[in-house]
Amino acid sequence: MEKGVFIVLEGLDGCGKSTQAKLLYEWLKKEGYNALITAEPTRNEIGRCIRKILSGKKRYNPKTLSYLFISDRHEHLEKEIKPALDNKKIVICERYYHSTIAYQAAQGIDMEYLIELNSFAMDPEIKPDLVIFLDVKPDIAASRTSTGEIFENEKFLRGVRENYLRLDNLTRIDGNRPIEEVFSDMKKVVSVLL
Ligand code: TYD
Repeated sequence: MEKGVFIVLEGLDGCGKSTQAKLLYEWLKKEGYNALITAEPTRNEIGRCIRKILSGKKRYNPKTLSYLFISDRHEHLEKEIKPALDNKKIVICERYYHSTIAYQAAQGIDMEYLIELNSFAMDPEIKPDLVIFLDVKPDIAASRTSTGEIFENEKFLRGVRENYLRLDNLTRIDGNRPIEEVFSDMKKVVSVLL
């Protein structure tokens, strides 16, 4: 491997991406690869601020939220993702710019605007090698979530899913199945990159 591999896991709240990300990380480590597992919103100050907003009662303008997600992403890319890729690691990232497009468009923001906005946080040299969309039915996804964050309701998640399905270059995996079956497909699509 000349440089690292950048894998993004996307999906609705409750789609099981954290479980799959952990399984993938453990499997890669066992196979002798140097992997990093990371997520957006991040754990830094901007990410923590976002989480506070998502679980709070006060509603923020969706554009304000988009700017926060994008600022968080820029820091994440520069400080964590890029250095890890430079060190030839396999980066497993839970959520990336697709989340902003799918979720904030579901909040009513124009998709083209969000795509352009994301481009400010991006480095054109660094593109995910694989974006997995763990597709679950919105009612199942909503029933699996319980943190009380603002986006965790079936109707909203239905809109988010439709937006995801409009994006190019996603590798869709049916997430409505038992964990082991989903993970078996995950390994298949990841193996191609190794
Ligand atoms: P996350 O912690 O991944 O939620 P979960 O683990 O419950 O799936 O993300 C928190 C929420 O933030 C989730 O509802 C999706 C939302 N989100 C956006 O709306 N836009 C974004 O750009 C990102 C990264 C997340």
